[in-house]
Amino acid sequence: MPLVSFKEKARRILQVFFALAAYRDFKLLFVLLKAGELGQMTSFIESNFLYRCAKNGWGGGAIVEIGSFKGRTTICLALGSKMTGREMVYAIDPQPDLSIREQFIRNLTRAKIIKQVVPLFQKSEEAVRDFSSPVRLLFIDGNHEYEAVKQDILLWQGKVIDGGIIAFHDYFPETNPAFLAGVNKAISELVLNSPEFIVEGRVDSVLFVSKKRTENKALFDQTNKINKLREYCKAKLDHTWFKY
Ligand SMILES: C[S@@+](CC[C@H](N)C(=O)[O-])C[C@H]1O[C@@H](n2cnc3c(N)ncnc32)[C@H](O)[C@@H]1O
Repeated sequence: MPLVSFKEKARRILQVFFALAAYRDFKLLFVLLKAGELGQMTSFIESNFLYRCAKNGWGGGAIVEIGSFKGRTTICLALGSKMTGREMVYAIDPQPDLSIREQFIRNLTRAKIIKQVVPLFQKSEEAVRDFSSPVRLLFIDGNHEYEAVKQDILLWQGKVIDGGIIAFHDYFPETNPAFLAGVNKAISELVLNSPEFIVEGRVDSVLFVSKKRTENKALFDQTNKINKLREYCKAKLDHTWFKY
């Protein structure tokens, strides 16, 4: 595990403090702390962003998570959705290790959001076959190999409503580490230059795009929720705690 410098630690603590102070999202922090061992795959800033997307994001439809592991991001999505009485979160992960599956269920139970989640212990390419609900928020954090990310995008994008959000984890175009090169390549080829998507912003390594609107544009503009999300990210940029 790489050593984190004191300066970096202090920076991260300040990030969390300012995010909490600015948005009063203490609830999320308490729930994450209470849930148990969740793994450290997603930063608090990213977690907070997913929570806010689930809580305030535009449109109606299910929330789908591809890649749940021990449930950290599942909890963020489910808590956000629960806070505003919104849709279920479908947490898709084939997780072959039964002890991790048990830990996932235990963490969700302790976080008191288990009723907001439908766990699907399947590969995303299997789950998509029987998935008939429209999706307003799709979070992709499953198999990070190029072909797999590409497959997730191609198989699931048709389920997402116009104006819905697709968020990708582990997007690091600047450094492009070898083990994440597939994520960057798939996003670059299928998303960044596609007329199907509007790139909305980036919160740490979460790149989020909206699916281009067609017939429901007027309704979309009226609700203006996407603009709020944009402002949220820009505010972070202004405070230099967030990188675009
Ligand atoms: C990076 S972890 C997810 C971390 C989680 N989102 C979090 O932040 O705590 C990736 C997960 O994707 C799962 N996975 C691998 N292949 C998958 C597939 N084809 N469909 C869905 N999930 C998959 C793995 O089992 C693993 O738990």
